[in-house]
Parts: sequence; structure tokens; C-alpha cells
Amino acid sequence: MKIAIIGTGYVGLTTGTCLAEFGHEVVCIDNDLEKLEKLKAGQSPIFEPGLEDLIKKNMAGGRLTFSAEIGSAVKESEIIFICVNTPPKADGHADLKYVEGVARQIAQAINGDYKVIVDKSTVPVKTAEKVRETILRYSVSEAKFDVISNPEFLREGTAVKDTMEPDRVVIGSNSQRATDKMLEAYKPLIDKTKVPVKIVSVRSAELIKHGANTFLATKISFANLIAETCEQAGADALEVLEAIGLDDRIGRQFLKPGIGFGGSCFPKDIAAYKKTLEILGIDNSLVEAVERINKRSAERFLQKIEKELWVLDGKIIGVLGLAFKSDTDDIRNAPALKIIESLKKEGAKIKAYDPQAMANTKKILTDIEYLENPYQAAEKAEALIICTEWDEFKNLDLNKIKELMTTPTIFDGRNIFDPAKAKELGFKYFGVGR
Ligand code: UDX
Ligand code: UDX
Repeated sequence: MKIAIIGTGYVGLTTGTCLAEFGHEVVCIDNDLEKLEKLKAGQSPIFEPGLEDLIKKNMAGGRLTFSAEIGSAVKESEIIFICVNTPPKADGHADLKYVEGVARQIAQAINGDYKVIVDKSTVPVKTAEKVRETILRYSVSEAKFDVISNPEFLREGTAVKDTMEPDRVVIGSNSQRATDKMLEAYKPLIDKTKVPVKIVSVRSAELIKHGANTFLATKISFANLIAETCEQAGADALEVLEAIGLDDRIGRQFLKPGIGFGGSCFPKDIAAYKKTLEILGIDNSLVEAVERINKRSAERFLQKIEKELWVLDGKIIGVLGLAFKSDTDDIRNAPALKIIESLKKEGAKIKAYDPQAMANTKKILTDIEYLENPYQAAEKAEALIICTEWDEFKNLDLNKIKELMTTPTIFDGRNIFDPAKAKELGFKYFGVGR
């Protein structure tokens, strides 16, 4: 099948590349010309394990191309995925101006052939209806199309795996013709993995994505609440949460306490869902509590640092990890950046290291020192703080770190070290909920 992807970011690029891997002919569109240059040279503009190899393979196979030209892509494709970003507005509402802009451009290019327009970007319920109205309003010829929702559940860092082996495929469609086209597009995946396919109404599909992300964020905030309780009550949150998670009804995943969730999805999506509840006149205090606990997780971590180090002015603090999670170079809403900003305000001197996210951080934080490895970041530091759970940090030589530091103190925002072992080695150690 011929497929167009509009918006070649984390979601669009991974989706397009994987659809090409399934054997389809995919053109990925973006209006960022610099990004397109890289892609045309076979380079991934983002760090995502396995993605670049797959891009190269499918480009070489003639199934994957990149372009800035929406018009011809729309004309030639049977399915058009909208994957542009949907950033939050100041009031928490999703800003749909890019989705609307793309819908207008689709309208201008659409010809007499039937098209399936797919909302892949995370959008509030009823967006597909607005996209449909927009295309009808601006189309120049008689347009035959359906707008459906096919939410993406990929996580950064495991995006390729999540797309090639998903837990489920959700197709929100009110048209059998569109559903059949989508099933044809996903046939190679369905045949190979026997993945459950949920065919639901468009509005349900839109709510599934917001619902899933809000639930996962709620689990994390619950874990952070337990962590706070354990700190006050003198218990160990990892012991408590592991035993709670062993109940199959609860599950062990997404119960890791830390410095709070970040990234391009959870903060934005729960804010948008909260807004949806408000618009529908439904009590949104559950979501509000999730946000509040998340904010407090980073604040509590900072308080621990300030309590232990007292005056921060002039003190050197090593920061390991800038990305919002491991295995990505993405720093959108990264808790590390908020923590660094607060420490800087108090006059601390920051020495930072991240295996992948330093190039992105350098664009927005120019007054901190960037080092080539974790040991350099620890040198002469009065505290070392762990903000991202990279495997590289888990295997550090803590004896060497201790020798390099001025005062061997670790604030482990992701609980990657064993507190007993760190103490045995002579560190003052502060984890989360332990
Ligand atoms: C984004 C949203 O954040 C997410 O909620 C949604 O589910 C999918 O889209 P992501 O892929 O991470 O996720 O966004 P981003 O990396 O910002 O990619 C968007 C891409 O669209 C960028 O490459 C941008 O250049 C491109 N774009 C944006 C266009 O091509 N045209 C536009 O008008 C706007
Ligand atoms: C998330 C969803 O998981 C994915 O299904 C959706 O499509 C997009 O949003 P992503 O933001 O890429 O994916 O990463 P995720 O692994 O969910 O982590 C989000 C944040 O939560 C990170 O900051 C991570 O460190 C934090 N987290 C995750 C915790 O603090 N504790 C946990 O137990 C799990």
C-alpha cells in the first residue's frame, strides 16, 4: 500500500519506518528541512535504539522516502497518518493548530480517490470530527475520505519494539471501508504477532489514548505517594511496591518511584484530559492529584539535597542524566532540567553528563558544564545526583567516584544503587522512599 506520514517526529518516524518494514511504500513528510536532510542521508535525527538501521534498510529497499511536499504525498497515498505535535496551551488544552494546518493542506491536495486520514497524534476526544469538517471546508474538489483514529502507544527508548510487537492495535473508525484499509495496512503485523485488534468508535479510540496515559501516570504518582509515606514512616518503598505489584490485578510495571514523570506525553496528555473533564463538567480532582504528587516528587528530592548540603552557593554538584528517561536523547519536560534550574538559582555549580541528551540540553542550558563521562562529572563534587536511570550509571565504579568527590554524597533520584552497598563504601546515600 502507499502510505503518507505527515510529521516525522518520534511517533511519525517510528510509525513510518515500521510500516515500510511491513512492506508498504511509505513517504514521510516534514516541514523541518534540516531534519529532512539528515533523513535523506539515512541518519536518524533522534536517538532511538534500532531505528536508524531500520531506516537505512527500508530506504535501500526503496520502501521509505522523505519529502517536504504534502500535496503529492496525499494524492498518491491511500492512507495518510497525521503525526504532527500537539503541544499544550497555557490552559492545558492541546494546541491543535498543527493538526488543523495539516488538515487544510490535505484538503487542498485531495483528489477524487478515496483516502483514509488517520489521527495518530494524541488528541482530545472529537478531534477527528473537527479534522473531517476542516477537510470538507477547504477541499477544492469533491473529497472522498474518512477520518479515523489509530492511537500510538510507543514509548521512547523502546519505540521500534513497541511498534513491531504492540500489546494491541486500536482502530477507531465509523466506516467499514476505512477499517478494511487499516486492517490491510496492519495485516503483516497482525499475521506475525497475532496482536489483539480493537475496532471501536472514533471517539472511544481518542479516549483510549488519554485514558491509558492517565492511568500509567496515576500509577507512577501512586508509587511516589507510597515513597513519601515510607520516608515519613521509616519503611522501604521498593519492598512495599514490589509486593503490591505482585498482585496480578495491579502489576509491577510503572510503580517505580523517583523524581516524577516527564517526557512529551504524560504531562501534556494528563493536562489535556483534565481539561476534557472540565469541559464535560466532570470532577477532575483525581488527575489534579496525580499532577500535584508528580510536581512534589521533584520538590521533595530538591529539599533533601538542600537539607543535607545546607548552603548551595558555590558548591559543585554533579548531575548524571538529563534525558527524561533512559535510552532517549529527549529532554522535553525532563525532571533533571527542573532540578538543575533550582540548584542553579541557589548558586550551585553544575557539572552534567548524559550518554545521549547533552547535545539537546546544550541548546537550552548554556551555563552549566558538560563532561565527557560520569567520573568527570563527579570530580570535586560535593554531591552527585542521579536523574536518569541509564544502565551506564548502574555499573559505575563507586570506589572511583568516591575518590574523585570532595564529599561522597549521592542523591539517587531513580533508586539505581543499593543503599546498603553505597553506605558500606562510605557514601552518604539518599534514595527515594528508602
Ligand atoms: C507528537 C506529540 O507530542 C504526541 O502527543 C503525538 O501523539 C504525536 O506527535 P512526537 O512525535 O514526539 O509526538 O512529536 P515531535 O517529535 O515534535 O514531531 C512532530 C513532527 O512534526 C516534527 O518533526 C515537526 O517538524 C513536524 N511538523 C510539525 C510538521 O511537519 N508540520 C507541522 O505543521 C508541524
Ligand atoms: C509514554 C507511554 O508509556 C506510551 O505508551 C505513550 O505512547 C507515550 O507516553 P514515554 O513518555 O515515551 O511513553 O515514556 P515512559 O516509559 O512511559 O516514561 C514516562 C516517564 O515516566 C519517564 O519520565 C519515566 O522516567 C517515568 N516513569 C516511568 C517513572 O517515574 N516510574 C515508572 O515506574 C515508569
